[in-house]
Amino acid sequence: MRAAIYERTGSAGEVLQLVEIERPEPKAGEVRIKLEWSGVNPSDVKSRAGSRSKLLPFPRITPHSDGAGVIDAVGENVPKARLGERVWTWNAAWGRPNGTAAEYVTLPSAQAVRLPDNVGTDVGACLGIPALTAFHAVEVDGGVRDKTVLIAGGAGAVGYYAIQFARLLGAANIISTVSSAEKAVLATHAGADVCINYRSENVDARIGEITGGHGVDRIVEVNFGANIAIDLKALKPDGHIVVYGSDAAEFTLPFVPLIVKNVCLRFFIVYNLDSDTRARAIAKLTSLLESNQLRHNISHRVPLDRIAHAHELVEFGRSVGNVVVAI
Ligand SMILES: NC(=O)c1ccc[n+]([C@@H]2O[C@H](COP(=O)([O-])OP(=O)(O)OC[C@H]3O[C@@H](n4cnc5c(N)ncnc54)[C@H](OP(=O)(O)O)[C@@H]3O)[C@@H](O)[C@H]2O)c1
Repeated sequence: MRAAIYERTGSAGEVLQLVEIERPEPKAGEVRIKLEWSGVNPSDVKSRAGSRSKLLPFPRITPHSDGAGVIDAVGENVPKARLGERVWTWNAAWGRPNGTAAEYVTLPSAQAVRLPDNVGTDVGACLGIPALTAFHAVEVDGGVRDKTVLIAGGAGAVGYYAIQFARLLGAANIISTVSSAEKAVLATHAGADVCINYRSENVDARIGEITGGHGVDRIVEVNFGANIAIDLKALKPDGHIVVYGSDAAEFTLPFVPLIVKNVCLRFFIVYNLDSDTRARAIAKLTSLLESNQLRHNISHRVPLDRIAHAHELVEFGRSVGNVVVAI
């Protein structure tokens, strides 16, 4: 089968290669998926670039955790009824060498989730990381019903879904930060009530005006290192900051403003959701997909032989939306 691989970290153009390798066979408890689309996320790009570690956990890696396609073989103990099922994947490249940038992937059966008939497999390749991250960030720690929520970076792959989930889970007021008019249109399209351009406006002052000086109940944070000062001013006492991203690998936090506001700070990585939390998120996501309540924003569809280009779109912030690779 054709697969994209890398055997060392480095720039996309230098290290990503297309090769012919043996098609995998599903072991007991596994399914094999004939992939149609593979989703590219920032963490795939960071792992390949070596920005977390220069050392590879495996000698050869096929990247990407997210993907979608059709089950074409099942291992022992997996019902034959799954053959032919359209599915999307999660964690395919987390702690594993064989991700979805290939014609086939084998995975434990639970990591292949039924994709509703009304949803395309290109969209299926955007669910494992962007949609589940967005859902958890909004739902965790009591959710957002009747709350005022700030979604930082609401035009991002995660942010666009986070605004929608905040709306669908009953938020009273959704504010989003963006960096351009184009991104404001997208965040508004997703359901934001107000967009603030964080590059040209004073975010705290605007949030003060919008909330009558009270601040927001929850912040869903894409870039904590950059936004700590803004977040501490924008948050209500007893509010939650849910952090899923930070460009800075290290930062300092001011103790006094955090403690006097009784701030609840929640960090999480979607790869490590516990199984009950993940199952709840998948069930809710499936029902929202089935009832066509979600919008999707795939900005680029790139053929597998241009996978390096797909990585560069994500790595250098040249995509406004999800990037998927056609297998
Ligand atoms: N914890 C997890 O499980 C998890 C899961 C998914 C993603 N992530 C991380 O989350 C980050 C975003 O992922 P993504 O796929 O959504 O990427 P993306 O599609 O590139 O979106 C990021 C968005 O954030 C905006 N942004 C950047 N700095 C900002 C700031 N200081 N204030 C407000 N907005 C800002 C960007 O727009 P501008 O640059 O134009 O402002 C962009 O719209 C990445 O660091 C990724 O590694 C973590």
